[in-house]
Amino acid sequence: MNGFLTVDGIFGNPASKTHGAGRAAADAVDSARQEIAAFLSSKPEEIIWTSGATESINLALKGAALARRDRGSHIVTSPLEHKAVLDSATWLESQGFEISYAEPDETGRITTENVLEALRPDTIVVSLMYVNNETGAVTNFASLGPKLRQHGALLHVDAVQGAARMPLDDVASEADLISISAHKMYGPKGIGVLRVRKPLGREFTSQIHGGGHQFGLRSGTLPTHQIVGMGEAARLVQQRRMADTKHVAALDNRLCTHFARIKGATLNGTADQRVPGILNVHFPGVEVESLMLALGNVAISSGSACTSADVEPSHVLLALGYEAERALSSARFSFGRFTTMDEIDHAGRLVQDTVTALRRMSQ
Ligand SMILES: Cc1ncc(COP(=O)(O)O)c(C=O)c1O
Repeated sequence: MNGFLTVDGIFGNPASKTHGAGRAAADAVDSARQEIAAFLSSKPEEIIWTSGATESINLALKGAALARRDRGSHIVTSPLEHKAVLDSATWLESQGFEISYAEPDETGRITTENVLEALRPDTIVVSLMYVNNETGAVTNFASLGPKLRQHGALLHVDAVQGAARMPLDDVASEADLISISAHKMYGPKGIGVLRVRKPLGREFTSQIHGGGHQFGLRSGTLPTHQIVGMGEAARLVQQRRMADTKHVAALDNRLCTHFARIKGATLNGTADQRVPGILNVHFPGVEVESLMLALGNVAISSGSACTSADVEPSHVLLALGYEAERALSSARFSFGRFTTMDEIDHAGRLVQDTVTALRRMSQ
């Protein structure tokens, strides 16, 4: 990335193909595009760079819904989605679209049956996440995808949390639109991708208009350094996926062993079909805000990092049917490739001691 940031390196504008500096930058963007295309089993011309998954999701939902308005005005999503999906859906509602929310089952997953139940003849888009960012619950698209195609509804998958943790084969083959974000796959912040399956391009409208960059779907000068960083992150995820998965599963097991020693601690959401590395734990009688403050340099959250400025209970835990009190006594733990077993042991012991101390103080 550094090599694309200064005049000593490749500093040209990748859209300026009239000079060597621009062409060198364009080549770097092209090879990153190929890397991401391979990562998502797609064609390079299906990859649209964005400023991150929030933008990808906005583009996916608005781009598909507005272009298909003549076919219907109904959209299906779920109450467990990231705010980027929920707020885009709410905006579309203000523009005359109707939104239905497929309910999670008792284990906290969105099932094919529940999505099919929410479909209507005029459903044009279905948007669901692959891995839930707060509970780690995984959605199965292998059975849903063919049914949605039959119905004529487009499928958008928010694959942000699954990209570095899970195989993407089913998502890549079943989804028409896929949103991913570099910073959730060990890459830089501020860069993401929307995969727009061809020949969907014609049924899809741009949301950022300008110089007609990126096949006319998203205008604006491309940030070469960010793009190169995301391409390299994708290459490394593919190369290290098996080793990372094994490592994170071992860390997850160990953290669960620590939590099993805490009286009353239980997992929120599904225990099966959860991706290792994301877990949400209820500590009865403990305010999560006090826990977060007392843990010092162990970084945990009360919901998704993107919304943890709010003191509100997590909308995901409420949608799973938990009371606000439980949601406010629950903490989300996540870790990955660079977390060590020593760090997990340190965090596990510290959480045990802190929960005990906080409970004693509140007696
Ligand atoms: C599931 C999910 N979707 C979307 C986003 C938004 O991604 P970005 O931060 O790239 O805008 C996040 C962010 O954490 C996320 O976890």
